Amino acid sequence: MKRDAEELLKELCPDLTITKNMKEWVQRAEQVVAKTTQSRDIFPVVDHTQGEGPWIYDLKGNQYLDVTAGVAVRALGIRNPVVKDFEQRISDYLRQVPGHDFDLIPQILLAERLTSITPGDHAKEVFFTTSGGRAVESALKSVMDNSHRFRFVAFRPAFHGRTGYTLALTASKHIQKNFFPQGLDVIRGPYPYCFRCPFKQEEKTCNLECIDYLRDSIEYGGTDIAAIVLEPICGEGGIIPAPVKWFKEIRKLADELDTKIISDEIQAGLGRTGKWWSIEHGGIVPEYICTAKALGGGFPFGAAIGPKPLFTDYSRHSETFGAEPYVSLLSLSVLRTIESDGLLDNATKRGRQLIKGLTEIQESSNIIGDVRGRGLMCAVEIVTDKTTNTYDPKKRHAVINNAVNKQRLWILGAGRSSIRFIPPLNITAEQIDIALERFGKAVKSVK
Ligand SMILES: Cc1ncc(COP(=O)(O)O)c(C=O)c1O
Repeated sequence: MKRDAEELLKELCPDLTITKNMKEWVQRAEQVVAKTTQSRDIFPVVDHTQGEGPWIYDLKGNQYLDVTAGVAVRALGIRNPVVKDFEQRISDYLRQVPGHDFDLIPQILLAERLTSITPGDHAKEVFFTTSGGRAVESALKSVMDNSHRFRFVAFRPAFHGRTGYTLALTASKHIQKNFFPQGLDVIRGPYPYCFRCPFKQEEKTCNLECIDYLRDSIEYGGTDIAAIVLEPICGEGGIIPAPVKWFKEIRKLADELDTKIISDEIQAGLGRTGKWWSIEHGGIVPEYICTAKALGGGFPFGAAIGPKPLFTDYSRHSETFGAEPYVSLLSLSVLRTIESDGLLDNATKRGRQLIKGLTEIQESSNIIGDVRGRGLMCAVEIVTDKTTNTYDPKKRHAVINNAVNKQRLWILGAGRSSIRFIPPLNITAEQIDIALERFGKAVKSVK
């Protein structure tokens, strides 16, 4: 930890003795910080004062190559010089002036920018939020407000957040849902998880039986659908890209039902897959797009972009901290950097390199059943062995543990048995090679 950072901590907590003993900090956290998603058995305490690009450090000064980008948040890596300089230039600007209550130039410009990169000729509006779940929640409320329909279609697996309404759509792990009541009426369809096709089809034999099944579910469950909510690449559920032909059928179904499509791009959007929005790979236009994570350049920020008017009147929906000028300007700077630095193209090229390297590792490993992804949103699925392809969360845990604690490669799980690679969009070819080398070693020692 940097010296001036230690001094600041002592100033704020005068009785503090600073220790670099990570076990001690983990124990202290265990006492007072609620459990969230990641196992405290694996991940060391991160030094909050150091890091650059895709590199992060633990309290002891060990350096890690981070291919998670803070779960797809740091699209430009840590302390990207452009954003850092920009942050300094705007450090005196007003904060705590929520864009929702008053019109502000930065918010207006950002809304114009976001609508201009969003597909479709329909007139659009933007509602700004402070998280991904709230962005999806806002789109759901917008659809209900305008259509007076309250039934939604969502998929399995799917992750759309953990707030009241969005948790009803989420079906990623039972642990996220058990004993929380359902806030919305949801008709569930099977996600096109082709590696584990519930209809036992392969690419050549597939007739999109999953769409037929969904049609039946709607026929029995109610056709008054407010919206079909989908992730073009199922993220938390295992980084599963839907096949291109699936999107056209979903659009057809939505049109038949006179319903909307909400594309949840919280993780996959803003250039991660090599296009601004991952649904563009499917060649269809959704009515709504939800974004967050990368949008705020590291600050909590999200947005629902949808047909005008999003809400039928004042006070139908709002959020105290939405679209403050500071974060709106930072967001504009992130979008401009993605464009000016050619990061959509970089995501496509580095993504191809990553998939090629992971496929080579798969060839010499018996525990990688599948390699998949689009752009810089890739995954491997860990299995007991390649003949049965049985999910193997224990082996996955061992691979992640090896990667983080022996190879100093910071990776995360996704779904029941997968490991995800979602590095910053500006990752270099050399850094991808380092990640592949480290990952290969981490996999090799797990039998
Ligand atoms: C696809 C998707 N939707 C929604 C969310 C919820 O976002 P947040 O945690 O910011 O509420 C996430 C978070 O990982 C996500 O990946």
